[in-house]
Amino acid sequence: MKIAVLGAGHVGPVIARLALAAGYEVGIAGSGDPARIEMITEFLAPGAVALPAADAVADADLVVLAIPWHRFPTLEPGMFAGKVVIDSMNHWPPAEAPLGTSEEVARRLVGADVVKTLNHVAYQDMEPAGGRAVGIAGDSPDAVRAVAEFLEHIGFDPVPVGPLAAGRLLEPGSPVFGVAARRQEFENFIKEQS
Ligand SMILES: NC(=O)c1ccc[n+]([C@@H]2O[C@H](COP(=O)([O-])OP(=O)(O)OC[C@H]3O[C@@H](n4cnc5c(N)ncnc54)[C@H](OP(=O)(O)O)[C@@H]3O)[C@@H](O)[C@H]2O)c1
Repeated sequence: MKIAVLGAGHVGPVIARLALAAGYEVGIAGSGDPARIEMITEFLAPGAVALPAADAVADADLVVLAIPWHRFPTLEPGMFAGKVVIDSMNHWPPAEAPLGTSEEVARRLVGADVVKTLNHVAYQDMEPAGGRAVGIAGDSPDAVRAVAEFLEHIGFDPVPVGPLAAGRLLEPGSPVFGVAARRQEFENFIKEQS
């Protein structure tokens, strides 16, 4: 299974490393020429292939969006049609918004199955995943299942929280945001909020 990671900053290379360690093939992209991230890739995610974003996505079974929220509009939506897309982005600084990021991602990436997860874990706490509970929200049960399987393979314990709209329970300000929890504690946090 091939993973495309869009973003080669703090989060992207960590997810790439976890995926590589679990045996996935990984293509990683920044916003421009892949030559600009070759060094980062070599040091931080050896084995990942630096590619233009469109090529990484075209080749992937699963795409991870790990780019700043304000850069999301720079992505060409058509290339995501038919893909399962993980949204790990946050409004940053946190903002009162009528929709969660993943609902907006789903509206714009028509034809993609969007799943929200990993956005509430700080990049420095992602590795090792160590069975940490992570929330997972999505409108497509198949896509949620596929992403849950991926998360388990890379070492997390995915906890379904509902459809994409419920993914707001995972956003900044939530008691699960930035907090390391095991499944039971995580489920309790979510129950208290819903
Ligand atoms: N930092 C955390 O602990 C953390 C934890 C959970 C979630 N998040 C969320 O995850 C996202 C990434 O955070 P980060 O801290 O990793 O950001 P970051 O360090 O600023 O890195 C952003 C990366 O995104 C790339 N990028 C920008 N536009 C792109 C595009 N159109 N196509 C492909 N790549 C593009 C940038 O490439 P260029 O340099 O070429 O522009 C850069 O490699 C944010 O939405 C953040 O809120 C962050």
